[in-house]
Amino acid sequence: MTMASRTGYADVLVGLQYGDEGKARIVDHLAGDYDVIARFNGGANAGHTIDAPGGALRLRQVPSGVLHPSLSLYIGSGCAIGLADLADEIAMLASRGISLRGRLIVSDRCLLVQPAHVARDRDEGGGIGTTGNGIGPCYADHATRMRGGMRVAFQLRDLVADSEAVFRQLSKPDTRAGTDAGMVTHASAIARMRAAWRTVRDFVTAEPDHLVGLVEGGARVLFEGAQSVLLDLTHGEQPWVTSSHTVPAYAYVGGDLPCKYHRKTIGVAKAIVSRVGAGPFPSELGGTRSAQYCATAAADRGARHREAAHHEPARLLASDDAFDIGSALRVLTDEYGTVTGRPRRIGLLDVAQLRMTMRQHGIDEWFLNKCDCLAWFADTPRQAIPLFDGAPHGTAEPVVREFAAFRFDALPKGREDPLPPQLDALLHWLQEAVACRLRGVGLGPARDQLRFLY
Ligand code: IMP
Repeated sequence: MTMASRTGYADVLVGLQYGDEGKARIVDHLAGDYDVIARFNGGANAGHTIDAPGGALRLRQVPSGVLHPSLSLYIGSGCAIGLADLADEIAMLASRGISLRGRLIVSDRCLLVQPAHVARDRDEGGGIGTTGNGIGPCYADHATRMRGGMRVAFQLRDLVADSEAVFRQLSKPDTRAGTDAGMVTHASAIARMRAAWRTVRDFVTAEPDHLVGLVEGGARVLFEGAQSVLLDLTHGEQPWVTSSHTVPAYAYVGGDLPCKYHRKTIGVAKAIVSRVGAGPFPSELGGTRSAQYCATAAADRGARHREAAHHEPARLLASDDAFDIGSALRVLTDEYGTVTGRPRRIGLLDVAQLRMTMRQHGIDEWFLNKCDCLAWFADTPRQAIPLFDGAPHGTAEPVVREFAAFRFDALPKGREDPLPPQLDALLHWLQEAVACRLRGVGLGPARDQLRFLY
């Protein structure tokens, strides 16, 4: 047996809050240091946006390294695949001149999202505020395996073995759970799946050691987490979570690589926090009023345009009502769901929560996006940047620390320009508070607006 002279390694990058921290743009920046970008959890419920020449790229299932032609992309067995969505994404990328042929490899153990899963999710997921992509029912059926003597879950390898047998079974009226959706045959959705499979099957590998082989040969892998650690099925606040494991350790289950190759764990947070869907959000601006407003507005597909047309951010920012300030920040910092367009709930950076998350998941270094957005606090009545720092033991009163504000015109114009001293001081305090080195900060959405601090 010949051993590779240099073995590779893997790093894991995860979101530290409730999702949408801007992980994809960090992956895009770091991609040059890796050979493979890999997904290990979730499915089309993820929405990853990267600034690209020719306009923003919105990805759901394909790893965020697409813009780097030399990179291999891998979708691990922990992911749930929406076939038609994946085929659409491959076609969208091809139309932008990005070919995935020979670059994208998908594990044949990935779960297959069925039309019945989507229907059930849309019927029953409203209370949690799911994205309606069928991800929860898909993982649930995977664990159920059989019902009434019939298999209820399929992996891509079942399609490889006999796709027509799977499509035939999916075409049968689904009587499970007695829901209306369950009684429907999903003929048009299955026709789309059949066509999509003709595209997707060329990317599927039957080798469970595909990634292992690459790393043995020296490949450097970056695992890209979808959703974020606070939405983990077990470690998040049930039931307000996603249905997969989002914590970094899961990369070595759903990503098909032994954990002996792990090198470091990278976290991504954003300076003004958002959450879509229901669930606890201690630092939410406007508290339950905001949660209720966003839950109602989520049903309205035009909420983004309505808010843009009718909200007056300058007036709302000057209000002493936290709900108004949150509403202004949503419009000004464009916090709407990538996939669903839902208005996101807005909150302050929660330092206590971040500190705990970093300890619990062993974060080695982190990035903080959207630091430029903190400048809006200069226009609030207190003219200071508030950071939420939890409630000390024995009290119900949360601690909110205030830091000196800066204005947008103080932000660096060029690479060599310094950060505003107020932001610099805040970041120094923050690094100490969470006891983890801050590697970079986002100062705007453009590719050249990510500043590395070391
Ligand atoms: P599901 O993942 O569609 O089942 O939705 C469960 C919860 O996770 C809901 O609150 C969703 O809004 C949330 N969620 C799922 N994917 C994302 C994401 O990519 N960003 C933010 N929240 C997400």
